Amino acid sequence: MSNARILLGVNIDHIATLRQARYREMADNCGKMIEPDPVFLSLLAEKAGADGITVHPREDQRHVQRGDVVRLRSCIQTRLNMEMAATDDMLNFALEVKPDSICIVPENREEVSTEGGLEVAGNYARIERITKEAQAVGIEVSLFIDPVVEQIEASSRIGAEFVELHTGAYANAYYEASERKVEFHRLIEGAKLAHDNGLVVNAGHGINYVNIHEVKHIPHLNELNIGHSIISRSVVYGIDEAVREMVSLMGI
Ligand code: PXP
Repeated sequence: MSNARILLGVNIDHIATLRQARYREMADNCGKMIEPDPVFLSLLAEKAGADGITVHPREDQRHVQRGDVVRLRSCIQTRLNMEMAATDDMLNFALEVKPDSICIVPENREEVSTEGGLEVAGNYARIERITKEAQAVGIEVSLFIDPVVEQIEASSRIGAEFVELHTGAYANAYYEASERKVEFHRLIEGAKLAHDNGLVVNAGHGINYVNIHEVKHIPHLNELNIGHSIISRSVVYGIDEAVREMVSLMGI
């Protein structure tokens, strides 16, 4: 697949994190006086040029609630991408809500955000079953992986449509010139291998208004999923300007 431009998926989890900081007890009541509302912010992000909205209802429901995903499904104008742990409970929820795509991620209760990539090769049978069940009802599947040969090849064998390459190690190394070069090279090689294996290449984690100048040159990029930097900027300048600026920087 080659787009005229790289697509932007806006991850709105952090809006829900802010809401939960005060309204944890009333989570299912959201949408009345409870703010900020991640669904409302998603619609504004779409208006500003987002090509899709990403949400990650975690097992511990620490930020996005299942009710948010249901409400978003009913009014989203673009594409709904739901990140999820590889569990039957989450699969059943996905089959019920039918996001346009799911992105299977590793989930660890202790982490603040998703840390490492998914161990696809080591959990092959479970991930393959979840992939097939989702695809059977028309949900596309992405696997969030480190740019590692074994994981890329396993993702392709499983039959996922997409991989999302984990850019976290690169983002963390950004201000260490030699380490950054190594991590960027891994992403480039990973993207080429994924593309050669028939996978559509997305990427995400830790992408911001500075490193985007380099990230956008990873070959074969279809879509970037960006959360923290866009939501942080929106606190100061509003979601409209935050999304528009990122879309503009992503242009080649
Ligand atoms: N992609 C995946 C699979 C993620 O888990 C996350 C973090 O929730 C992101 C993208 C977005 O990362 P960030 O918030 O650092 O932009």
